[in-house]
Amino acid sequence: EKGGYDYFMLKEIAEQPKAVADTLLGRIDVAGNLTLDEVRIPASVLREVDKVVIVACGTAYHAGMIAKYAIEHWTRIPCETELASEFRYRDPILDRRTLVIAISQSGETMDTLMALRHAREQGAKVLAICNTNGSTIPRESDAVLYTHAGPEVAVASTKAFLTQLVACYLVALYLGQVRGTKWGDEIQSVIRELSEMGTQVEQVLETMEPVRELARTLADKNTVLFLGRHVGYPVALEGALKLKELAYMHAEGFAAGELKHGPIALIEEDLPVVVVVPSPRGRSVLHDKIVSNIQEIRARGARTIVIAERGDEAVAPYADHLIEIPVTPTLLQPLVATVPLQVFACELATARGNEVDQPRNLAKSVTVE
Ligand code: M6R
Repeated sequence: EKGGYDYFMLKEIAEQPKAVADTLLGRIDVAGNLTLDEVRIPASVLREVDKVVIVACGTAYHAGMIAKYAIEHWTRIPCETELASEFRYRDPILDRRTLVIAISQSGETMDTLMALRHAREQGAKVLAICNTNGSTIPRESDAVLYTHAGPEVAVASTKAFLTQLVACYLVALYLGQVRGTKWGDEIQSVIRELSEMGTQVEQVLETMEPVRELARTLADKNTVLFLGRHVGYPVALEGALKLKELAYMHAEGFAAGELKHGPIALIEEDLPVVVVVPSPRGRSVLHDKIVSNIQEIRARGARTIVIAERGDEAVAPYADHLIEIPVTPTLLQPLVATVPLQVFACELATARGNEVDQPRNLAKSVTVE
């Protein structure tokens, strides 16, 4: 049942191009418009939404953090992303014009379920993004957009994360579409670009051998840091989470802009630091800032492991290890940038002799608060 792979996690990483493509299937019509018929919340209601709140845990929360960038950019609706476990305890402000999006692979996560119940009690509409048909979270929501990752067995989430991202982009673009925001032209072209992402993920998977080799050389390290900016920041957090749960290593993700506000004090000789670099096109200011961050940490002895867009010549001289990813639109980059981090964590866990599919102390679905 592992399809020839040693672990479910390896199989699920390899299934990502298909999972991404499957999640788009039937949701884009021939004219290139989105047809999310399953989202049974009427367009008239969606047009009235004045705030989006995303609730989720763990990896799904990271998908939600990335969704915030997409939703605010394409729809201009204020969006906040919150850990489901924190949400209801701070008495959040919700009303009938709030759209709450609950993201959950299993559909059974108690923290997320309690958050959505609270939201509905306050009159908010809840849209679930979920991978498990008929599970509790979609049953208790107003509408559901299913991710089509197929069953995810490994405790560490991989393909579900990529499909959660796809679903979040679809919801963001759909909201933009029904509300006719000024990014209309961009929406059409992003929908086309989204359709190419399965192939891009496939390309990344074909170039992972150097990442595996690198991971094996780091098996005796105690700490790995991850830096990113913009949508690369949640990717950094996801890379760190994968390493914690699989390799049982101290791994921390930071927003690169925060370095000088504290974390740079952690940098010491030979400390591995993974940096997710934004595209040099588009948000070039951010790109240049992160290149300086890489120079700064390298000057202090860090071993820089740089994930950057193919052809990014400015960053190459400062990378001790360069992991190239395909050229993508900025907001979609997490779909390709996350994959090397999954492979990295899986290989490190294997090198350390850990149980990849069943990390210690963890359960696949967390059904207690
Ligand atoms: O089933 P859910 O998506 O609601 O699960 C949320 C988290 O428990 C989950 O993503 C967890 O963080 C994973 N083990 C991460 O790999």
